[in-house]
Amino acid sequence: MSDTTRTATAEAGSQLEAEVKRRRTFAIISHPDAGKTTLTEKLLLYGGAVQMAGAVKARRKQAHAVSDWMEMEKERGISITSTVLSFDYSGYRINLLDTPGHQDFSEDTYRTLLAADAAVMVLDGARGIQEQTLKLFEVCKRRQIPILTFINKMDRPSLDPFELLEDIEKTLGLETYAVNWPLGNGDRFKGVYDRESGKLHLFERQAHGGKKAVAKEVDPRDQAVAELTDEQTHEEFTEGLELLEAGAELRKEDFSRGKITPVFFGSALSNFGVQLFLDKFLTLAPQPSPRLSEEGTIEPTDDKFRGFIFKIQADMNPRHRDRVAFLRICSGKFRRGMKAKCTRTGQDIKLNYAQQLFAQERVIVEEAFPGDVVGMTNSSNLILGDTLCEGEAVSFEPMPLFSPEHFARINIKDPSRRKHFQKAMDQLCLEGAIQVFFPKDSYARDPIIGAVGVLQFEVVQDRLKNDYRVDIDYERMNFILCRWLEGKEEDIEKFTGSRQTLVCHDLWDKTVCLFPGNWDLDYAKDKNPNLVFRSISQVN
Ligand code: G4P
Repeated sequence: MSDTTRTATAEAGSQLEAEVKRRRTFAIISHPDAGKTTLTEKLLLYGGAVQMAGAVKARRKQAHAVSDWMEMEKERGISITSTVLSFDYSGYRINLLDTPGHQDFSEDTYRTLLAADAAVMVLDGARGIQEQTLKLFEVCKRRQIPILTFINKMDRPSLDPFELLEDIEKTLGLETYAVNWPLGNGDRFKGVYDRESGKLHLFERQAHGGKKAVAKEVDPRDQAVAELTDEQTHEEFTEGLELLEAGAELRKEDFSRGKITPVFFGSALSNFGVQLFLDKFLTLAPQPSPRLSEEGTIEPTDDKFRGFIFKIQADMNPRHRDRVAFLRICSGKFRRGMKAKCTRTGQDIKLNYAQQLFAQERVIVEEAFPGDVVGMTNSSNLILGDTLCEGEAVSFEPMPLFSPEHFARINIKDPSRRKHFQKAMDQLCLEGAIQVFFPKDSYARDPIIGAVGVLQFEVVQDRLKNDYRVDIDYERMNFILCRWLEGKEEDIEKFTGSRQTLVCHDLWDKTVCLFPGNWDLDYAKDKNPNLVFRSISQVN
């Protein structure tokens, strides 16, 4: 190697290292209405990515007005533009991955968490842990990703802060560490005490949350603080602080392994506690982490470019039929126009058209680094879980398939289109839009589709009609969960379940049972002690 080449390689290496170090890639998980959109918006506001709070929602409304498409397209309009939002703040590059939490809750939501290095869990201070948070948390736990908690809406009457911490500990089995502590809640919410600096950040109610709130910092022992609120609230606050000091420490390694969550209190709507959260988040949240592959651990600073596809999004709008494959970069540097090999097909793909949403603008990506997510628009050959790499082929962990919660039987209106239908089903399954199950002993040939969110059925019906010219009806079924069976073949053959249980196989010929309720699942477990009932399978 010549001296010039050696210097260039060393420079590229240190650039890569520096870029990895400054990246923070995370997803926000929450139950609908806890305040995920509001917090996202405020993070963008503090990050300088939007000038005015309200821009995210305004964009939504604008998207609705522009496209007079059906309801779900409006919903999808949101998720297309907000799959990942990137912005620079305080020298860091922040990639915020969107996990839709409303009725468009889908498998994508789960898989998006695979592309994140950390998660922020937003809880409503009046409600604590709710159903959807719990589901998403399970995925974070499986991956052991660090979780930060933002307890929102403290400007509204909230549960006791200790009760909220206990809820997290009991329901999620996650230790907590309060990074800050609220003084009151609802009308009596006066601020948060930052334990690190020992300062109380005073909250000033704002007529609207459009501007950044600048908190006044005071000593919590100031007489003026006691006068801010009633005696009881102040007493509870000071007692709380004493109790906290006697509590657990925030051990970095426990946080990194997802065993303890740093907890922040605040109010996203009134911008309160948001900047404190963002600043602490940057120091606490990890840089892009190494990733497991069949060939061993891949370090982000490895100079060979590698990434995997965690989401495929097909645009519903017939005026611009994009199909975007979202790639999470795991190592090396992405350069526009570079060639990378798809491990599954062995084919080289020229990476010309990668896009990113940077500070609310869609941009063509010239270069990107580990932790970044780029949307590839010329992606018709790519499927979910594909790895793209430079040099030796590697395979990251297979993409998980989660138990759907809604099921429907499909009826193809024109039987002569059955072949097209099958092709479409294969494609939609590989995109991860839905799962398809074939009843084992069914007299009818109609397959069953399963989805995590009901909206997916309409998406499938629409895609079949527009992309494959196959008209279908679907009839909702009363199953609510499925389990993949694992065990000896003869035990699987002899499977016994309740009369309402349906035995099927999936696209990869694995045996899977659909159950109308937990009773039927427990019954099956009881009758088939040699079998393992898995709630998660994988693509292949
Ligand atoms: P989501 O994305 O998790 O579903 O929640 P989103 O941010 O849309 O917030 C849900 C509702 O809660 C919104 O009210 C929002 O304004 C409100 N909210 C969010 N953060 C706070 C907070 O810190 N304090 C208070 N008091 N309210 C908060 P909405 O009436 O449903 O919508 P909008 O009319 O305000 O847009």
